[in-house]
Amino acid sequence: MDKKFGVLVSGTGTLLDALVAAGFPVAVVGADRPCLALEKAGGYGIETRLFDRADYGNLDPKLPGSFRDQFSHDVAVELKALGINFTSMAGWGTLFTQPFFDVYGDDSIIIKNHPALLPAFKGWHPVRDALAAGVKFTGCTIHHATVDMDEGRIIAQMPVPVLDGDTEETLQGRIKEAERPLLVQVLKDLMGLNEAPPTLPFMPRDGHCHSCDTRLVPAGSVMACPRCTTVSGG
Ligand code: GRF
Repeated sequence: MDKKFGVLVSGTGTLLDALVAAGFPVAVVGADRPCLALEKAGGYGIETRLFDRADYGNLDPKLPGSFRDQFSHDVAVELKALGINFTSMAGWGTLFTQPFFDVYGDDSIIIKNHPALLPAFKGWHPVRDALAAGVKFTGCTIHHATVDMDEGRIIAQMPVPVLDGDTEETLQGRIKEAERPLLVQVLKDLMGLNEAPPTLPFMPRDGHCHSCDTRLVPAGSVMACPRCTTVSGG
């Protein structure tokens, strides 16, 4: 199947930047609110669509009178009209209900980023929740999107260490640094654009990080360097 690629955004568009820099042929960028990412898309010369949540009133599917079904339906209709059959929710912030999938179709792909190692820390505040839980590692996940929040089949993950003194902002920044190359890699894999299988950075068996030479314990296992965050397998 030929893939026509769309990207859905809600935020600052750093994932979109990475996709454009990697040369992906983005046919359209859709946003659920006016945002920097949508402005960036326009600046890149990409066709844009604003599906403004504010036009739909109450989007909570549990409350009577929710317009989330209509919103979900309308976004899918527009993507279909544009011939999009491969969509990356790259920071998009609105959960789709069943009408989206009914229109978009099972033969089309929609994937989503989540800034935590699912199934841990589902929901809207995964970075804050990871910090509050005191975990030593969190990370990012790319998974198939479904009607259930953060539940779809996992495609790829990358761990990110939580460092002493991390704030939600600093940790989120490092997670986003990990997300960008991971999303590029996953999309190349799914689109059949990878020339060679992915390779992990080399880490010597003596247990020192090849990037910054920090001693790593345990040596020889898959882990991230706590100082420079290089992830590798020994
Ligand atoms: C990513 O961390 C994504 O996982 C989360 O929103 C962030 C996207 O940031 N849902 P940006 O808008 O691409 O800068």
